[in-house]
Amino acid sequence: MQDVRNTKKDICLVEGLEIRNAFGTTLVQDVSFRLAPGETLGLVGESGSGKTLTCKSLVGLLPDGIKASAKRKEITENTAMIFQNPISSLDPLCTVVRQLCEVIEYRQGVSGVESKERAMALLSRLSLPAELAERDRYPRELSGGQCQRILIAMALACRPELLLCDEPTTALDVTVQKQTVELIRSLQRELGFGMIFVTHNLAVASQLCERLAVMQNGRIIEEGSRTEVLRNPKQEYTQKLIAAIL
Ligand SMILES: Nc1ncnc2c1ncn2[C@@H]1O[C@H](COP(=O)(O)OP(=O)(O)O)[C@@H](O)[C@H]1O
Ligand SMILES: [Mg+2]
Repeated sequence: MQDVRNTKKDICLVEGLEIRNAFGTTLVQDVSFRLAPGETLGLVGESGSGKTLTCKSLVGLLPDGIKASAKRKEITENTAMIFQNPISSLDPLCTVVRQLCEVIEYRQGVSGVESKERAMALLSRLSLPAELAERDRYPRELSGGQCQRILIAMALACRPELLLCDEPTTALDVTVQKQTVELIRSLQRELGFGMIFVTHNLAVASQLCERLAVMQNGRIIEEGSRTEVLRNPKQEYTQKLIAAIL
């Protein structure tokens, strides 16, 4: 049988990614990875290891003064993202269903009643309160977990081939974190999008992702299938991360 990875075009391919700050200090070095359609990669590592910058450089959203270069960097246009802080990612002056409808109108080319119906279908899929159909709300009127679901709905409305998630559950409280991880997992299985899931939590990454890449000090120090990495970690740092979840 042919290797599927060789027959389908990668949705994300990075080779030799380097990121520097305004003073020329290297923040991310020699990072390479690839994802075939539907593949899931967990990018795991401690705070400051370069996960967010790596993710942001993929979509051209690096902060001012930060520069990236790579031997190769290809990513599907059909990429959506969810970030760490749901409330600040929403427009505070616009109600949430309207924000979702705008994304649906823009990305799916429908309008009026049709976009509202699609929005409500997505929201009920994500277990958001049906009352939103009667009375739309502002982000500040919803909980952090509900806002994150709105953002997940907005990302899914783009029908992404690749979903980038940068610590989407870190700002939520523990029970809501768990629900959100389960929601993302079931949506990924159902819809089959590829995913890069950034987290400092190896347990979460291994729940969600088939492949794991461990980052430390701006480099990927270990990469492999979930089973390889968990059963046979080569780096001491990875062994420590595993010990911490057991
Ligand atoms: N806007 C910025 N300006 C300068 N340095 C930054 C900026 N953002 C991140 N860094 C630095 O880059 C490194 C990697 O950061 P980041 O990618 O945010 O790490 P992580 O997401 O793994 O916690 C850290 O040393 C951090 O201090
Ligand atoms: Mg980060």
